[in-house]
Amino acid sequence: MENIIEINHLKKDFGKNEVLKDIHLDIQKGEVVTIIGSSGSGKSTLLRCINLLEIPTSGEILFHGENVLTPGYDLPKYRTHLGMVFQQFNLFNNMNVLDNCTSGQISVLKRPKAEAEKIALENLDKVGMARFVKAKPSQLSGGQKQRVAIARALSMNPDVLLFDEPTSALDPEMVGEVLKTMKALAHTGLTMVIVTHEMAFAKDVSDRVIFMDQGIIAEEGTPEDIFVTPRHERTKAFLQRILED
Ligand SMILES: Nc1ncnc2c1ncn2[C@@H]1O[C@H](COP(=O)(O)OP(=O)(O)O)[C@@H](O)[C@H]1O
Ligand SMILES: [Mg+2]
Repeated sequence: MENIIEINHLKKDFGKNEVLKDIHLDIQKGEVVTIIGSSGSGKSTLLRCINLLEIPTSGEILFHGENVLTPGYDLPKYRTHLGMVFQQFNLFNNMNVLDNCTSGQISVLKRPKAEAEKIALENLDKVGMARFVKAKPSQLSGGQKQRVAIARALSMNPDVLLFDEPTSALDPEMVGEVLKTMKALAHTGLTMVIVTHEMAFAKDVSDRVIFMDQGIIAEEGTPEDIFVTPRHERTKAFLQRILED
């Protein structure tokens, strides 16, 4: 299998706070990796280091075998290969749905407008939002906004799509439609890294589950390994707490 991303000895400090400590993580092409763990364990920071929204304190991130932290590496280009879906959608509120999905393609990828619109429509169709091209984000529900955000990310044809708790800001009745959309994508061969609190979803959709605790990967394995036969006390305690909630 081909590693798209290989993370070695990754550390991230915020002042004296060591948030990520010696992280090792490989992401293979076509893999669906979910990251679980308590609030504050460093999940978002890890995603933000992967796409360099945060610059790691030390360590390496190999993208197709090349360390993106080497001085002179083309970071803007690297970032175009990674898509990100945020908890708070981050849509442009002054633009309609179609323009939200074409603006990055036109400005960053330099696609002609007609081609960008065609690609946007294909992806809006995949997430069930093609009917809403003219709508503004303010006219949409949270679940619809998040599906548009997914279509926008897909329209950039990322090598890897990162999701940071994409359903955590949604009303409970909207969670299902977004998880269903993500599940459908997972079956298309797209490489996805998903931070989530939705354990049933993680169990269902993941090739691999990463359990983070206090800035380290405390345990990783198949959904079966993590959810059925966790080995570490910390994993067991975390899952127990989630079950009680
Ligand atoms: N920009 C930042 N500046 C300072 N501290 C931060 C910053 N981002 C995250 N942290 C700290 O890093 C730790 C891990 O945060 P985070 O990665 O958001 O955890 P999680 O996503 O698992 O809840 C927390 O202690 C948080 O306060
Ligand atoms: Mg987080």
